[in-house]
Amino acid sequence: MIESSDLRMKRIPLHYGTGQMPALGFGTLIPDPALTVTATRDALEAGFRHFDCAERYGNEREVGRALEAGLASRLIARADIFVTTKLWNSNHRPERVEPAFQASLDRLGVKYLDLYLIHTPFAFQPGDDQDPRDQNGNVIYDHDVTLLDTWRAMESLVDHGKCRAIGLSDVGLNELRPIYESARIKPAVVQVESHPYLPEAELLEFCKEKGVVFLAFAPLGHGIKPGPLEDPVILSIATRVRKTPAQVLLAWAVQRGTALLTTPRTAARARENFDISSLPQDALEEINQIQNRQRLNPVVKSGVPGFIPKAS
Ligand SMILES: NC(=O)c1ccc[n+]([C@@H]2O[C@H](COP(=O)([O-])OP(=O)(O)OC[C@H]3O[C@@H](n4cnc5c(N)ncnc54)[C@H](OP(=O)(O)O)[C@@H]3O)[C@@H](O)[C@H]2O)c1
Repeated sequence: MIESSDLRMKRIPLHYGTGQMPALGFGTLIPDPALTVTATRDALEAGFRHFDCAERYGNEREVGRALEAGLASRLIARADIFVTTKLWNSNHRPERVEPAFQASLDRLGVKYLDLYLIHTPFAFQPGDDQDPRDQNGNVIYDHDVTLLDTWRAMESLVDHGKCRAIGLSDVGLNELRPIYESARIKPAVVQVESHPYLPEAELLEFCKEKGVVFLAFAPLGHGIKPGPLEDPVILSIATRVRKTPAQVLLAWAVQRGTALLTTPRTAARARENFDISSLPQDALEEINQIQNRQRLNPVVKSGVPGFIPKAS
C-alpha cells in the first residue's frame, strides 16, 4: 500500500557551499540536561544525521558531548552529520555575533557549523541576560540594530570559513524578502513552524522558487493534543497505510519538499520518527485539504520562545 521510496535518506542541497541537509532533523529543545544526552544519543543511533541546536536551549554542551561519544562509538565522521545552532536575540549587535558563534562552537565541541541561524528577527537588549525585562515584566527590545545589520555579521562568518551556511528562523515573507534582496550571501534556510494546520504555502512557494530550504519545526504540532497528531484525517490515513500518526505527519512534510525537525525523547520514539516511508498521492492530497488553521508557537509575535523556561 505504501510506495517504496526511502524518505529517511533524503538530503536537500543548500544553494551555496558544499552542504546537503538531511531532510529528517532531530531538534534538541530538551530542557533536562541528562535527557538531552540520552535523546541525542538515541537519535544518532536511530539514524538521524541532522541536529538542530540553539544557544538559547542552554544545552549545547550536552548535545556536543553526546555527539562526540556517539560519533566515536559508531565510527561516524563529523562530515557525515549536519549541525546547526542559532544566534540568540540578545546577540544581534554585529560586534556580538562572532563571539556568540565562537561560544556555541566551543560548547558544542565542533570546529565548524553546517548552518548558523538568526533564532528570531527580534533584537533584545544586548548582553548576557537572554531574557531582559523591564520593571513591568516586559521584554526590553533593542531598536538600534536592524536585522540586516545582524545579517551582514552573519555573512562574515561564512567568509571566514567556520560556518558553511546561514539562515533565518521565525520569519515570514515580510522579513525574509528584504533580507533576501539585500543579502550578499542569501539565506540558505528558513526554519519556521509548519504542519498541516500551518502549511505556510506562500512562504514555501517563495523558498522553492529561490532555492531556500524550508525547515519545518513542530511537524507534530509540538505534540500538543488536540492537534495534528489526533486529526481524524491523519488517524484515518495512519490506519490505512499501517503507519503511526507521527510517521504520517513526518512523511507528508518531507514529501511536500520541506526538511523537518522533530524531538523524540526516547529510543523507541526516535526509531519510530526515523522510520518513515512515502505516502500515496491520495493521502497527500487529503492532508492538503485539511482546513483547520492554528499557529501553536507564539515566538514569531515577540521573539519570546513558547517552549523554553524563562532563563533564571
Ligand atoms: N526556531 C524556533 O523558534 C523553534 C521553536 C520550537 C522548536 N524548534 C526546533 O524544532 C525542534 C522540534 O520540536 P517540536 O516540539 O517542534 O517537535 P515535534 O516533534 O513537533 O513535537 C515534539 C513533541 O511531540 C511528541 N512526540 C514526539 N514523537 C512522537 C511520536 N512518535 N508520537 C507521538 N508524540 C510524539 C513529544 O512527546 P514527548 O514529550 O512525550 O516526548 C514532544 O512533546 C525543537 O527541538 C527545536 O530544535 C525551533
